[in-house]
Amino acid sequence: MLACISFTRSAVAFRNFRTLVLVRYAQTAAAPEPKIKTFQIYRWDPDTPGDKPRMQTYEVDLNTCGPMVLDALIKIKNEMDPTLTFRRSCREGICGSCAMNINGGNTLACLNKIDTNTSKVMKIYPLPHMYVVKDLVPDMSNFYAQYKSIEPYLKKKDESKQGKEQYLQSIEDRQKLDGLYECILCACCSTSCPSYWWNGDKYLGPAVLMQAYRWMIDSRDEFTEERLSKLQDPFSLYRCHTIMNCTKTCPKGLNPGKAIAEIKKMMATYKEKRLSAI
Ligand code: SF4
Ligand code: SF4
Ligand code: FES
Repeated sequence: MLACISFTRSAVAFRNFRTLVLVRYAQTAAAPEPKIKTFQIYRWDPDTPGDKPRMQTYEVDLNTCGPMVLDALIKIKNEMDPTLTFRRSCREGICGSCAMNINGGNTLACLNKIDTNTSKVMKIYPLPHMYVVKDLVPDMSNFYAQYKSIEPYLKKKDESKQGKEQYLQSIEDRQKLDGLYECILCACCSTSCPSYWWNGDKYLGPAVLMQAYRWMIDSRDEFTEERLSKLQDPFSLYRCHTIMNCTKTCPKGLNPGKAIAEIKKMMATYKEKRLSAI
């Protein structure tokens, strides 16, 4: 019993000693030189009468900030300006909600590293050519309505077996979906496409077209021809002029430009088939 009490006392004494050493070290260690990075961020609040869009400057000490642009935005919001508004959720490139225009390119704030060169200003805008809800938050309504319009789900002619058995797929057929299913619908590609800027109401844009293609080539789907037929007008698909901004900007490394080219090839075969059937 006595040995036990004495052991407990020594353990407490050791812990106190260690805490004292750590506190002393922290007090004497030289604080690092501040690394002040300037951020200029687009601000606009529709709820403030007469408010006009403007750039607001914030200075962040990179010594006390995480490495990504989203870390800086969260720090600004938490410590400097709670009115700054932006979307984010997963902070690891999965949800797609933190898409914005950083230093001239559309990307995800959570995957984009802060340029540690403090002589350069970082400029952050909402995704371009979208209506703005507030600050860095774009209105995604049209984008989501277009996504809904391509019926992004498995469709079968005979639905009587639905839910009764699995729809199997060969390994090769499953592999065809690689590079397509990973899309997180962040809209970085669509909002970097000049054709989408000017005809976003009628042209579906690269993100939505890539998902249309994803379902067209799914071996389990039975509506490929109907899906192609819906894209026959001059705008939905054919506004793509293969400029490839979309592929260049995709923060997930996907290739929506190629998917669109593949749809155009499928469309040519589909049209030939229709003509020969007449
Ligand atoms: S293709 Fe890339 S850029 Fe376009 S929506 Fe999908 S993940 Fe985002
Ligand atoms: S390839 Fe097509 S979809 Fe992609 S940026 Fe160019 S025009 Fe837009
Ligand atoms: S926070 Fe989810 S993708 Fe950036």
